[in-house]
Amino acid sequence: MHMERTLAILKPDCVRKGLVGEVIRRIQEAGFVLRALRMQQLTREEAEGFYAVHKGRPFFDELTKFMSSGPCVPMVLEKENAVEDFRALIGATDPAEAAEGTIRHAFADNKGQNIVHGSDSVANGTIEAGYFFCERELVANGA
Ligand code: CMP
Repeated sequence: MHMERTLAILKPDCVRKGLVGEVIRRIQEAGFVLRALRMQQLTREEAEGFYAVHKGRPFFDELTKFMSSGPCVPMVLEKENAVEDFRALIGATDPAEAAEGTIRHAFADNKGQNIVHGSDSVANGTIEAGYFFCERELVANGA
Protein backbone atom coordinates (compact mmCIF):
# COMPACT_ATOMS: atom_id res chain seq x y z
CA MET A 1 0.00 0.00 0.00
CA HIS A 2 1.55 3.29 -1.10
CA MET A 3 0.29 6.36 0.74
CA GLU A 4 0.37 9.62 -1.13
CA ARG A 5 -0.29 13.21 -0.17
CA THR A 6 -1.95 15.97 -2.14
CA LEU A 7 -2.64 19.60 -1.39
CA ALA A 8 -6.24 20.73 -1.71
CA ILE A 9 -7.50 24.29 -1.40
CA LEU A 10 -11.15 25.09 -0.88
CA LYS A 11 -11.20 28.31 -2.87
CA PRO A 12 -12.86 31.61 -1.82
CA ASP A 13 -16.04 30.75 -3.79
CA CYS A 14 -16.40 27.55 -1.74
CA VAL A 15 -16.14 29.52 1.50
CA ARG A 16 -18.48 32.27 0.25
CA LYS A 17 -21.14 29.76 -0.78
CA GLY A 18 -21.09 28.09 2.65
CA LEU A 19 -19.88 24.81 1.16
CA VAL A 20 -16.81 24.14 3.31
CA GLY A 21 -18.56 21.49 5.40
CA GLU A 22 -20.21 19.79 2.45
CA VAL A 23 -17.01 19.60 0.41
CA ILE A 24 -14.96 18.28 3.35
CA ARG A 25 -17.71 15.70 3.95
CA ARG A 26 -17.37 14.49 0.36
CA ILE A 27 -13.59 14.40 0.64
CA GLN A 28 -13.67 12.33 3.83
CA GLU A 29 -16.41 10.06 2.50
CA ALA A 30 -14.10 9.30 -0.45
CA GLY A 31 -11.50 7.98 1.99
CA PHE A 32 -9.08 10.89 2.25
CA VAL A 33 -7.47 11.48 5.64
CA LEU A 34 -6.92 15.08 6.77
CA ARG A 35 -3.32 15.71 7.77
CA ALA A 36 -3.48 19.51 8.03
CA LEU A 37 -6.10 22.19 7.54
CA ARG A 38 -6.60 25.88 8.22
CA MET A 39 -8.58 28.85 7.00
CA GLN A 40 -6.60 31.85 5.75
CA GLN A 41 -6.82 34.73 3.32
CA LEU A 42 -3.93 34.82 0.87
CA THR A 43 -2.34 38.12 -0.02
CA ARG A 44 -2.10 38.86 -3.75
CA GLU A 45 1.65 38.18 -3.51
CA GLU A 46 1.08 34.81 -1.83
CA ALA A 47 -1.42 33.81 -4.52
CA GLU A 48 1.07 34.87 -7.21
CA GLY A 49 3.76 32.79 -5.50
CA PHE A 50 1.58 29.72 -5.24
CA TYR A 51 0.53 29.93 -8.90
CA ALA A 52 3.96 31.05 -10.18
CA VAL A 53 3.96 28.28 -12.83
CA HIS A 54 1.00 30.06 -14.49
CA LYS A 55 2.71 33.46 -14.62
CA GLY A 56 2.35 34.89 -18.12
CA ARG A 57 -0.87 32.99 -18.85
CA PRO A 58 -3.83 35.19 -19.84
CA PHE A 59 -5.80 34.11 -16.77
CA PHE A 60 -3.01 34.76 -14.23
CA ASP A 61 -4.29 38.15 -13.03
CA GLU A 62 -7.88 36.96 -12.73
CA LEU A 63 -6.75 33.81 -10.94
CA THR A 64 -4.54 35.51 -8.34
CA LYS A 65 -7.08 38.29 -7.76
CA PHE A 66 -9.79 35.70 -7.14
CA MET A 67 -7.64 33.50 -4.93
CA SER A 68 -6.80 36.46 -2.71
CA SER A 69 -10.37 37.84 -2.68
CA GLY A 70 -11.45 36.09 0.51
CA PRO A 71 -10.52 33.30 2.89
CA CYS A 72 -9.67 29.87 1.54
CA VAL A 73 -9.07 26.53 3.23
CA PRO A 74 -5.82 24.79 2.32
CA MET A 75 -5.47 21.19 3.49
CA VAL A 76 -3.11 18.27 3.14
CA LEU A 77 -4.90 15.03 2.29
CA GLU A 78 -3.51 11.53 2.48
CA LYS A 79 -4.72 8.38 0.75
CA GLU A 80 -3.44 5.65 -1.47
CA ASN A 81 -3.18 7.20 -4.96
CA ALA A 82 -4.26 10.55 -3.47
CA VAL A 83 -3.27 12.85 -6.35
CA GLU A 84 -5.13 10.98 -9.08
CA ASP A 85 -8.08 10.01 -6.88
CA PHE A 86 -8.56 13.59 -5.68
CA ARG A 87 -8.56 14.91 -9.24
CA ALA A 88 -11.21 12.31 -10.10
CA LEU A 89 -13.29 13.37 -7.09
CA ILE A 90 -13.22 17.08 -8.03
CA GLY A 91 -13.63 16.67 -11.80
CA ALA A 92 -12.30 18.68 -14.76
CA THR A 93 -11.05 22.27 -14.31
CA ASP A 94 -13.97 23.55 -16.37
CA PRO A 95 -17.16 22.57 -14.53
CA ALA A 96 -18.95 22.33 -17.90
CA GLU A 97 -16.64 19.37 -18.63
CA ALA A 98 -16.65 17.89 -15.12
CA ALA A 99 -18.28 14.48 -14.81
CA GLU A 100 -21.55 14.06 -12.96
CA GLY A 101 -20.98 13.25 -9.30
CA THR A 102 -17.83 15.36 -9.06
CA ILE A 103 -17.47 18.33 -6.72
CA ARG A 104 -16.94 20.83 -9.50
CA HIS A 105 -19.91 19.50 -11.48
CA ALA A 106 -22.08 19.97 -8.42
CA PHE A 107 -20.87 23.37 -7.20
CA ALA A 108 -18.51 25.26 -9.54
CA ASP A 109 -19.57 28.27 -11.62
CA ASN A 110 -16.77 28.41 -14.19
CA LYS A 111 -13.16 27.56 -14.97
CA GLY A 112 -11.81 30.32 -12.77
CA GLN A 113 -14.19 29.99 -9.84
CA ASN A 114 -14.15 26.24 -9.56
CA ILE A 115 -14.49 25.61 -5.81
CA VAL A 116 -11.37 23.57 -5.22
CA HIS A 117 -7.73 23.11 -6.21
CA GLY A 118 -5.90 19.80 -6.28
CA SER A 119 -2.20 19.13 -6.95
CA ASP A 120 -1.53 17.78 -10.43
CA SER A 121 1.35 15.43 -9.55
CA VAL A 122 2.91 13.74 -6.53
CA ALA A 123 5.98 16.00 -6.80
CA ASN A 124 3.82 19.12 -6.94
CA GLY A 125 1.74 17.81 -4.04
CA THR A 126 4.84 17.82 -1.86
CA ILE A 127 5.93 21.27 -3.04
CA GLU A 128 2.43 22.74 -2.65
CA ALA A 129 1.91 21.22 0.80
CA GLY A 130 5.19 22.86 1.84
CA TYR A 131 3.92 26.21 0.58
CA PHE A 132 1.16 26.17 3.21
CA PHE A 133 2.23 23.87 6.02
CA CYS A 134 5.39 23.08 7.95
CA GLU A 135 6.22 19.56 9.13
CA ARG A 136 4.99 20.40 12.65
CA GLU A 137 1.47 21.06 11.30
CA LEU A 138 1.07 17.66 9.66
CA VAL A 139 -0.73 15.61 12.27
CA ALA A 140 -0.21 11.87 12.62
CA ASN A 141 -3.84 10.78 12.64
CA GLY A 142 -6.54 12.96 11.12
CA ALA A 143 -9.01 10.22 10.26
P1 CMP B 1 -6.29 25.20 -10.21
O1 CMP B 1 -6.33 23.70 -10.11
O2 CMP B 1 -6.40 25.95 -8.97
O3 CMP B 1 -4.93 25.60 -10.96
C1 CMP B 1 -4.85 26.67 -11.86
C2 CMP B 1 -6.13 27.38 -11.99
O4 CMP B 1 -6.18 28.31 -13.02
C3 CMP B 1 -7.21 26.40 -12.29
O5 CMP B 1 -7.47 25.65 -11.15
C4 CMP B 1 -8.33 27.30 -12.77
O6 CMP B 1 -9.18 27.73 -11.74
C5 CMP B 1 -7.57 28.48 -13.32
N1 CMP B 1 -7.73 28.52 -14.76
C6 CMP B 1 -7.28 27.67 -15.67
N2 CMP B 1 -7.65 28.06 -16.90
C7 CMP B 1 -8.34 29.19 -16.75
C8 CMP B 1 -8.98 30.08 -17.63
N3 CMP B 1 -8.96 29.85 -18.95
N4 CMP B 1 -9.59 31.14 -17.11
C9 CMP B 1 -9.58 31.36 -15.77
N5 CMP B 1 -9.00 30.56 -14.89
C10 CMP B 1 -8.40 29.49 -15.37
